[in-house]
Amino acid sequence: MRNIACVVGTRPEAIKMAPVILELRKDPELCVTVLATGQHTDMLRQALDDFGISADFNLNIMRDRQTLDHIMASVLQGVGEILDANPQDMILVHGDTSTTFAASLAGFYRHVKIGHVEAGLRSRNLALPFPEEANRVLTDSIADMFFAPTKGAAENLIREGKPESQIYITGNTVIDALYDILRRWKGMDAPEYLRGIEERPLILMTAHRRESWGEPLMNICSAVRDVIRERPDVLFLIPMHKNPTVRDVIREELKDFPGNVILTEPLNYPEFVYAMSKSTFILSDSGGVQEEATAIDKPVLIMRTVSERPEAITEGTCILVGTERENIRNEALRILNEPEYMAAIVGKNRKPFGDGTASAKIHEAVSYPRL
Ligand code: UD1
Ligand code: UDP
Repeated sequence: MRNIACVVGTRPEAIKMAPVILELRKDPELCVTVLATGQHTDMLRQALDDFGISADFNLNIMRDRQTLDHIMASVLQGVGEILDANPQDMILVHGDTSTTFAASLAGFYRHVKIGHVEAGLRSRNLALPFPEEANRVLTDSIADMFFAPTKGAAENLIREGKPESQIYITGNTVIDALYDILRRWKGMDAPEYLRGIEERPLILMTAHRRESWGEPLMNICSAVRDVIRERPDVLFLIPMHKNPTVRDVIREELKDFPGNVILTEPLNYPEFVYAMSKSTFILSDSGGVQEEATAIDKPVLIMRTVSERPEAITEGTCILVGTERENIRNEALRILNEPEYMAAIVGKNRKPFGDGTASAKIHEAVSYPRL
Protein backbone atom coordinates (compact mmCIF):
# COMPACT_ATOMS: atom_id res chain seq x y z
CA MET A 1 0.00 0.00 0.00
CA ARG A 2 1.39 3.43 -0.97
CA ASN A 3 0.35 6.66 0.70
CA ILE A 4 -0.42 9.57 -1.62
CA ALA A 5 -1.59 12.97 -0.39
CA CYS A 6 -3.41 15.22 -2.88
CA VAL A 7 -3.02 18.85 -1.88
CA VAL A 8 -5.67 21.45 -2.69
CA GLY A 9 -6.00 25.04 -1.53
CA THR A 10 -8.09 27.09 -3.93
CA ARG A 11 -11.11 26.62 -6.21
CA PRO A 12 -9.23 25.75 -9.42
CA GLU A 13 -7.01 23.25 -7.60
CA ALA A 14 -10.09 21.50 -6.23
CA ILE A 15 -11.82 21.35 -9.62
CA LYS A 16 -8.71 20.13 -11.40
CA MET A 17 -7.58 17.67 -8.71
CA ALA A 18 -11.07 16.23 -8.15
CA PRO A 19 -10.90 13.82 -11.12
CA VAL A 20 -7.42 12.71 -10.02
CA ILE A 21 -8.58 12.08 -6.46
CA LEU A 22 -11.63 10.13 -7.64
CA GLU A 23 -9.49 8.08 -10.04
CA LEU A 24 -6.74 7.25 -7.52
CA ARG A 25 -9.30 6.32 -4.89
CA LYS A 26 -10.50 3.45 -7.08
CA ASP A 27 -7.11 1.77 -6.61
CA PRO A 28 -6.92 -0.59 -3.60
CA GLU A 29 -3.11 -0.37 -3.70
CA LEU A 30 -3.21 3.34 -2.86
CA CYS A 31 -4.16 5.11 0.34
CA VAL A 32 -5.24 8.56 -0.88
CA THR A 33 -5.41 11.48 1.53
CA VAL A 34 -6.98 14.82 0.58
CA LEU A 35 -4.99 17.56 2.26
CA ALA A 36 -6.71 20.94 2.05
CA THR A 37 -4.77 23.99 3.05
CA GLY A 38 -7.92 26.10 3.16
CA GLN A 39 -6.21 28.95 1.28
CA HIS A 40 -9.79 29.45 0.09
CA THR A 41 -12.65 28.61 2.45
CA ASP A 42 -16.07 28.74 0.77
CA MET A 43 -14.79 28.53 -2.80
CA LEU A 44 -12.72 25.44 -2.00
CA ARG A 45 -15.58 23.74 -0.16
CA GLN A 46 -18.00 24.56 -2.97
CA ALA A 47 -15.71 23.00 -5.59
CA LEU A 48 -14.97 19.87 -3.52
CA ASP A 49 -18.71 19.46 -2.80
CA ASP A 50 -19.44 19.50 -6.53
CA PHE A 51 -17.46 16.26 -6.81
CA GLY A 52 -18.58 14.73 -3.51
CA ILE A 53 -15.08 15.01 -2.02
CA SER A 54 -14.35 15.95 1.56
CA ALA A 55 -10.90 16.81 2.86
CA ASP A 56 -9.19 14.46 5.31
CA PHE A 57 -7.23 17.41 6.71
CA ASN A 58 -8.00 21.09 6.42
CA LEU A 59 -5.49 23.63 7.69
CA ASN A 60 -8.05 26.45 7.29
CA ILE A 61 -5.32 29.02 6.83
CA MET A 62 -7.40 31.68 5.05
CA ARG A 63 -7.50 35.19 6.50
CA ASP A 64 -9.45 38.14 5.17
CA ARG A 65 -7.32 39.96 2.57
CA GLN A 66 -4.45 37.62 3.27
CA THR A 67 -0.88 38.33 2.22
CA LEU A 68 1.33 36.09 0.11
CA ASP A 69 3.68 35.81 3.12
CA HIS A 70 0.85 34.54 5.29
CA ILE A 71 -0.16 31.84 2.78
CA MET A 72 3.41 30.68 2.20
CA ALA A 73 4.39 30.55 5.87
CA SER A 74 1.24 28.91 7.16
CA VAL A 75 0.97 26.31 4.37
CA LEU A 76 4.65 25.38 4.69
CA GLN A 77 4.35 24.93 8.45
CA GLY A 78 0.93 23.25 8.38
CA VAL A 79 1.61 20.80 5.55
CA GLY A 80 4.97 19.98 7.11
CA GLU A 81 3.31 19.04 10.40
CA ILE A 82 0.73 16.87 8.65
CA LEU A 83 3.43 15.09 6.64
CA ASP A 84 5.42 14.44 9.83
CA ALA A 85 2.40 12.93 11.57
CA ASN A 86 1.13 11.08 8.47
CA PRO A 87 4.12 10.01 6.37
CA GLN A 88 3.47 9.92 2.62
CA ASP A 89 5.25 8.23 -0.27
CA MET A 90 4.19 11.00 -2.60
CA ILE A 91 2.33 14.28 -2.65
CA LEU A 92 0.45 15.51 -5.68
CA VAL A 93 0.19 19.27 -6.07
CA HIS A 94 -1.60 21.20 -8.78
CA GLY A 95 -0.85 24.26 -10.85
CA ASP A 96 0.60 27.51 -9.65
CA THR A 97 -0.94 28.84 -6.46
CA SER A 98 0.96 29.67 -3.29
CA THR A 99 -0.50 26.47 -1.81
CA THR A 100 1.12 24.55 -4.68
CA PHE A 101 4.62 25.80 -4.07
CA ALA A 102 4.49 25.95 -0.26
CA ALA A 103 3.16 22.37 -0.03
CA SER A 104 5.80 21.20 -2.51
CA LEU A 105 8.52 22.77 -0.39
CA ALA A 106 7.19 21.02 2.73
CA GLY A 107 7.39 17.73 0.81
CA PHE A 108 10.85 18.51 -0.53
CA TYR A 109 12.20 19.21 2.97
CA ARG A 110 11.09 15.69 3.95
CA HIS A 111 12.32 13.91 0.80
CA VAL A 112 8.76 13.05 -0.13
CA LYS A 113 8.30 12.54 -3.88
CA ILE A 114 6.42 15.40 -5.52
CA GLY A 115 4.12 14.96 -8.52
CA HIS A 116 3.19 18.22 -10.21
CA VAL A 117 -0.13 18.14 -12.04
CA GLU A 118 -0.32 20.80 -14.77
CA ALA A 119 3.47 21.12 -14.88
CA GLY A 120 5.41 23.09 -17.47
CA LEU A 121 3.13 26.05 -18.13
CA ARG A 122 5.20 29.18 -18.74
CA SER A 123 4.48 32.79 -19.61
CA ARG A 124 8.21 33.58 -19.33
CA ASN A 125 7.41 36.72 -17.42
CA LEU A 126 7.67 36.50 -13.64
CA ALA A 127 5.30 39.45 -13.29
CA LEU A 128 2.51 37.91 -15.40
CA PRO A 129 0.66 36.27 -13.86
CA PHE A 130 1.93 37.26 -10.43
CA PRO A 131 2.90 35.33 -8.38
CA GLU A 132 1.76 32.27 -10.34
CA GLU A 133 4.58 32.19 -12.90
CA ALA A 134 7.13 32.05 -10.08
CA ASN A 135 5.09 29.41 -8.24
CA ARG A 136 5.12 27.15 -11.32
CA VAL A 137 8.80 27.53 -12.00
CA LEU A 138 9.73 26.99 -8.35
CA THR A 139 7.46 23.97 -8.01
CA ASP A 140 8.91 22.39 -11.14
CA SER A 141 12.41 23.02 -9.79
CA ILE A 142 11.80 20.59 -6.92
CA ALA A 143 9.23 18.17 -8.40
CA ASP A 144 10.00 14.53 -9.24
CA MET A 145 7.18 13.73 -11.66
CA PHE A 146 5.80 16.22 -14.16
CA PHE A 147 2.27 15.80 -15.50
CA ALA A 148 2.33 18.15 -18.47
CA PRO A 149 -1.08 18.94 -19.94
CA THR A 150 0.22 19.53 -23.48
CA LYS A 151 3.20 18.79 -25.69
CA GLY A 152 4.16 22.47 -25.44
CA ALA A 153 4.27 22.29 -21.64
CA ALA A 154 6.44 19.16 -21.86
CA GLU A 155 8.80 20.96 -24.25
CA ASN A 156 9.13 23.83 -21.79
CA LEU A 157 10.25 21.35 -19.13
CA ILE A 158 12.72 19.63 -21.45
CA ARG A 159 14.17 23.02 -22.41
CA GLU A 160 14.75 23.65 -18.72
CA GLY A 161 16.67 20.39 -18.40
CA LYS A 162 14.08 18.18 -16.73
CA PRO A 163 14.66 14.49 -17.54
CA GLU A 164 12.28 13.34 -20.28
CA SER A 165 11.67 10.09 -18.44
CA GLN A 166 9.98 12.03 -15.63
CA ILE A 167 7.64 13.97 -17.92
CA TYR A 168 4.22 12.54 -18.77
CA ILE A 169 1.95 14.25 -21.28
CA THR A 170 -1.52 13.68 -19.88
CA GLY A 171 -3.90 16.37 -21.10
CA ASN A 172 -5.40 18.77 -18.60
CA THR A 173 -7.46 17.26 -15.80
CA VAL A 174 -9.91 20.16 -16.08
CA ILE A 175 -11.23 18.47 -19.23
CA ASP A 176 -11.90 15.33 -17.16
CA ALA A 177 -13.78 17.51 -14.66
CA LEU A 178 -15.71 19.26 -17.40
CA TYR A 179 -16.73 16.01 -19.11
CA ASP A 180 -17.76 14.57 -15.75
CA ILE A 181 -20.10 17.52 -15.20
CA LEU A 182 -21.44 17.38 -18.76
CA ARG A 183 -22.21 13.66 -18.29
CA ARG A 184 -24.05 14.33 -15.01
CA TRP A 185 -25.72 17.34 -16.48
CA LYS A 186 -28.45 15.81 -18.55
CA GLY A 187 -31.79 17.15 -17.43
CA MET A 188 -30.33 19.90 -15.24
CA ASP A 189 -32.69 22.89 -15.02
CA ALA A 190 -31.43 26.35 -15.89
CA PRO A 191 -30.42 28.19 -12.72
CA GLU A 192 -33.03 30.71 -11.53
CA TYR A 193 -31.16 33.82 -12.69
CA LEU A 194 -30.81 32.49 -16.23
CA ARG A 195 -34.45 31.64 -16.78
CA GLY A 196 -36.27 33.65 -19.40
CA ILE A 197 -33.22 35.49 -20.72
CA GLU A 198 -32.40 33.07 -23.52
CA GLU A 199 -33.19 35.56 -26.22
CA ARG A 200 -30.62 38.10 -24.95
CA PRO A 201 -26.88 37.88 -25.72
CA LEU A 202 -25.19 36.66 -22.53
CA ILE A 203 -21.64 37.63 -21.65
CA LEU A 204 -20.14 35.66 -18.79
CA MET A 205 -17.39 37.54 -16.99
CA THR A 206 -14.86 36.59 -14.30
CA ALA A 207 -11.89 38.61 -13.08
CA HIS A 208 -9.62 38.18 -10.11
CA ARG A 209 -5.91 38.31 -11.04
CA ARG A 210 -3.66 40.15 -8.63
CA GLU A 211 -1.97 42.11 -11.42
CA SER A 212 -5.41 43.47 -12.42
CA TRP A 213 -6.22 44.93 -9.00
CA GLY A 214 -6.67 48.71 -9.09
CA GLU A 215 -6.66 50.52 -12.42
CA PRO A 216 -6.91 47.50 -14.76
CA LEU A 217 -10.05 46.32 -12.95
CA MET A 218 -11.53 49.83 -13.20
CA ASN A 219 -10.77 49.76 -16.95
CA ILE A 220 -12.51 46.40 -17.29
CA CYS A 221 -15.63 47.80 -15.58
CA SER A 222 -15.53 50.89 -17.81
CA ALA A 223 -15.42 48.63 -20.86
CA VAL A 224 -18.46 46.72 -19.56
CA ARG A 225 -20.36 50.01 -19.24
CA ASP A 226 -19.27 51.01 -22.77
CA VAL A 227 -20.57 47.74 -24.21
CA ILE A 228 -23.89 48.15 -22.42
CA ARG A 229 -24.25 51.68 -23.79
CA GLU A 230 -23.67 50.44 -27.35
CA ARG A 231 -25.68 47.25 -26.98
CA PRO A 232 -28.38 47.74 -24.34
CA ASP A 233 -29.78 44.28 -25.13
CA VAL A 234 -26.77 42.43 -23.65
CA LEU A 235 -26.72 40.80 -20.26
CA PHE A 236 -23.50 40.42 -18.27
CA LEU A 237 -23.44 37.56 -15.78
CA ILE A 238 -20.64 38.21 -13.30
CA PRO A 239 -20.10 35.58 -10.59
CA MET A 240 -17.85 37.59 -8.32
CA HIS A 241 -14.71 36.08 -6.83
CA LYS A 242 -14.89 36.20 -3.01
CA ASN A 243 -11.86 38.44 -2.77
CA PRO A 244 -13.12 41.77 -1.35
CA THR A 245 -10.40 43.67 -3.21
CA VAL A 246 -12.07 42.54 -6.43
CA ARG A 247 -15.76 42.44 -5.57
CA ASP A 248 -15.85 45.84 -3.84
CA VAL A 249 -14.72 47.45 -7.11
CA ILE A 250 -17.05 45.46 -9.36
CA ARG A 251 -20.06 46.15 -7.14
CA GLU A 252 -19.33 49.87 -6.95
CA GLU A 253 -18.57 50.30 -10.65
CA LEU A 254 -21.46 48.27 -12.04
CA LYS A 255 -24.21 48.83 -9.50
CA ASP A 256 -26.15 51.23 -11.71
CA PHE A 257 -26.94 48.68 -14.44
CA PRO A 258 -29.34 46.19 -12.83
CA GLY A 259 -31.07 45.52 -16.15
CA ASN A 260 -27.80 44.55 -17.81
CA VAL A 261 -25.55 43.19 -15.07
CA ILE A 262 -26.27 40.23 -12.82
CA LEU A 263 -23.77 40.13 -9.97
CA THR A 264 -23.78 36.78 -8.17
CA GLU A 265 -21.81 34.81 -5.62
CA PRO A 266 -19.40 32.29 -7.18
CA LEU A 267 -21.45 29.72 -9.08
CA ASN A 268 -21.03 26.08 -8.29
CA TYR A 269 -19.16 24.23 -11.03
CA PRO A 270 -22.17 22.71 -12.85
CA GLU A 271 -23.89 26.11 -12.88
CA PHE A 272 -20.76 27.79 -14.18
CA VAL A 273 -20.40 25.22 -16.97
CA TYR A 274 -24.06 25.80 -17.80
CA ALA A 275 -23.49 29.56 -17.93
CA MET A 276 -20.43 29.11 -20.16
CA SER A 277 -22.42 26.98 -22.56
CA LYS A 278 -25.27 29.51 -22.72
CA SER A 279 -23.06 32.54 -23.16
CA THR A 280 -22.36 34.28 -26.45
CA PHE A 281 -18.80 34.73 -25.29
CA ILE A 282 -16.76 34.93 -22.09
CA LEU A 283 -14.64 37.76 -20.73
CA SER A 284 -12.12 36.38 -18.27
CA ASP A 285 -8.63 36.46 -16.82
CA SER A 286 -8.89 32.90 -15.51
CA GLY A 287 -6.54 30.14 -16.56
CA GLY A 288 -8.99 27.25 -16.28
CA VAL A 289 -11.72 29.05 -18.18
CA GLN A 290 -9.44 29.30 -21.25
CA GLU A 291 -9.10 25.51 -21.28
CA GLU A 292 -12.77 24.76 -20.63
CA ALA A 293 -14.07 27.29 -23.14
CA THR A 294 -11.76 25.90 -25.82
CA ALA A 295 -13.15 22.42 -25.15
CA ILE A 296 -16.75 23.59 -25.56
CA ASP A 297 -15.95 25.93 -28.46
CA LYS A 298 -16.88 29.17 -26.72
CA PRO A 299 -14.92 32.36 -27.47
CA VAL A 300 -13.02 33.97 -24.61
CA LEU A 301 -11.64 37.47 -24.56
CA ILE A 302 -8.71 37.02 -22.19
CA MET A 303 -8.14 40.12 -20.12
CA ARG A 304 -4.39 39.59 -19.93
CA THR A 305 -1.47 40.52 -22.15
CA VAL A 306 0.15 37.11 -22.09
CA SER A 307 -1.05 33.55 -21.62
CA GLU A 308 0.85 30.51 -20.43
CA ARG A 309 -1.73 28.52 -22.39
CA PRO A 310 -0.67 29.42 -25.96
CA GLU A 311 -2.69 26.49 -27.35
CA ALA A 312 -5.87 28.33 -26.31
CA ILE A 313 -4.88 31.16 -28.59
CA THR A 314 -3.22 29.47 -31.54
CA GLU A 315 -5.57 26.50 -31.76
CA GLY A 316 -8.51 27.52 -29.70
CA THR A 317 -11.08 30.18 -29.39
CA CYS A 318 -9.31 32.62 -27.06
CA ILE A 319 -8.15 36.15 -27.88
CA LEU A 320 -5.79 38.20 -25.74
CA VAL A 321 -7.35 41.63 -25.21
CA GLY A 322 -5.40 42.91 -22.19
CA THR A 323 -7.01 45.23 -19.68
CA GLU A 324 -7.24 48.43 -21.72
CA ARG A 325 -10.80 49.76 -21.86
CA GLU A 326 -10.82 50.49 -25.62
CA ASN A 327 -9.50 47.11 -26.59
CA ILE A 328 -11.96 45.12 -24.49
CA ARG A 329 -14.85 47.27 -25.67
CA ASN A 330 -13.87 47.00 -29.35
CA GLU A 331 -13.33 43.23 -29.34
CA ALA A 332 -16.54 42.63 -27.40
CA LEU A 333 -18.58 44.75 -29.81
CA ARG A 334 -16.93 43.07 -32.76
CA ILE A 335 -18.01 39.64 -31.57
CA LEU A 336 -21.51 40.93 -30.83
CA ASN A 337 -21.97 42.88 -34.06
CA GLU A 338 -20.04 40.95 -36.71
CA PRO A 339 -21.37 37.42 -37.24
CA GLU A 340 -18.58 36.63 -39.69
CA TYR A 341 -15.97 37.51 -37.02
CA MET A 342 -17.66 35.16 -34.56
CA ALA A 343 -17.91 32.45 -37.22
CA ALA A 344 -14.16 32.67 -37.82
CA ILE A 345 -13.43 32.13 -34.13
CA VAL A 346 -15.64 29.12 -33.40
CA GLY A 347 -16.20 25.76 -35.04
CA LYS A 348 -12.57 24.61 -35.12
CA ASN A 349 -13.30 21.59 -32.96
CA ARG A 350 -9.73 21.33 -31.77
CA LYS A 351 -8.99 19.79 -28.41
CA PRO A 352 -5.52 20.97 -27.39
CA PHE A 353 -6.10 20.32 -23.68
CA GLY A 354 -6.94 16.64 -23.88
CA ASP A 355 -9.77 14.19 -24.18
CA GLY A 356 -10.83 13.67 -20.58
CA THR A 357 -8.37 10.87 -19.79
CA ALA A 358 -5.71 12.90 -17.97
CA SER A 359 -6.52 11.44 -14.55
CA ALA A 360 -6.27 7.88 -15.84
CA LYS A 361 -2.86 8.71 -17.35
CA ILE A 362 -1.69 10.22 -14.06
CA HIS A 363 -2.92 7.12 -12.22
CA GLU A 364 -0.99 4.89 -14.60
CA ALA A 365 2.17 6.99 -14.24
CA VAL A 366 1.95 7.05 -10.44
CA SER A 367 1.41 3.28 -10.34
CA TYR A 368 4.09 2.39 -12.88
CA PRO A 369 6.64 5.23 -12.92
CA ARG A 370 9.32 5.04 -15.63
CA LEU A 371 12.74 4.21 -14.27
C1 UD1 B 1 -5.73 32.55 -5.48
C2 UD1 B 1 -4.40 32.17 -6.13
C3 UD1 B 1 -4.48 32.31 -7.64
C4 UD1 B 1 -5.67 31.55 -8.20
C5 UD1 B 1 -6.93 31.98 -7.47
C6 UD1 B 1 -8.10 31.15 -7.92
C7 UD1 B 1 -2.28 32.65 -4.96
C8 UD1 B 1 -1.30 33.67 -4.56
N1 UD1 B 1 -3.36 33.08 -5.63
O1 UD1 B 1 -5.93 33.93 -5.73
O2 UD1 B 1 -3.30 31.80 -8.22
O3 UD1 B 1 -5.80 31.80 -9.57
O4 UD1 B 1 -6.76 31.79 -6.06
O5 UD1 B 1 -9.32 31.73 -7.54
O6 UD1 B 1 -2.11 31.49 -4.66
N2 UD1 B 1 -11.63 34.84 -0.11
C9 UD1 B 1 -12.76 34.54 0.65
N3 UD1 B 1 -13.32 33.29 0.50
C10 UD1 B 1 -12.84 32.35 -0.35
C11 UD1 B 1 -11.72 32.69 -1.13
C12 UD1 B 1 -11.12 33.93 -1.00
O7 UD1 B 1 -13.23 35.34 1.44
O8 UD1 B 1 -13.39 31.26 -0.43
C13 UD1 B 1 -11.01 36.19 0.04
C14 UD1 B 1 -10.21 36.34 1.35
O9 UD1 B 1 -10.36 37.65 1.83
C15 UD1 B 1 -8.78 36.11 0.87
C16 UD1 B 1 -8.82 36.75 -0.50
O10 UD1 B 1 -10.09 36.39 -1.03
O11 UD1 B 1 -7.83 36.69 1.73
C17 UD1 B 1 -7.71 36.38 -1.44
O12 UD1 B 1 -7.51 34.98 -1.53
P1 UD1 B 1 -6.09 34.42 -2.07
O13 UD1 B 1 -6.14 32.94 -2.11
O14 UD1 B 1 -4.98 35.05 -1.33
O15 UD1 B 1 -5.97 35.03 -3.53
P2 UD1 B 1 -6.86 34.83 -4.81
O16 UD1 B 1 -6.95 36.14 -5.48
O17 UD1 B 1 -8.10 34.11 -4.44
N1 UDP C 1 -15.57 28.61 -11.76
C1 UDP C 1 -16.69 28.18 -11.03
N2 UDP C 1 -17.57 29.12 -10.58
C2 UDP C 1 -17.42 30.44 -10.82
C3 UDP C 1 -16.28 30.87 -11.54
C4 UDP C 1 -15.36 29.93 -11.99
O1 UDP C 1 -16.87 26.98 -10.80
O2 UDP C 1 -18.27 31.22 -10.39
C5 UDP C 1 -14.58 27.61 -12.20
C6 UDP C 1 -14.17 27.66 -13.66
O3 UDP C 1 -15.02 26.83 -14.44
C7 UDP C 1 -12.74 27.15 -13.62
C8 UDP C 1 -12.23 27.61 -12.28
O4 UDP C 1 -13.39 27.89 -11.49
O5 UDP C 1 -12.69 25.73 -13.64
C9 UDP C 1 -11.39 28.86 -12.45
O6 UDP C 1 -11.10 29.36 -11.21
P1 UDP C 1 -10.43 30.78 -11.00
O7 UDP C 1 -10.83 31.70 -12.10
O8 UDP C 1 -10.74 31.17 -9.60
O9 UDP C 1 -8.87 30.44 -11.05
P2 UDP C 1 -7.81 30.34 -12.24
O10 UDP C 1 -8.30 29.39 -13.26
O11 UDP C 1 -7.62 31.71 -12.78
O12 UDP C 1 -6.57 29.87 -11.54
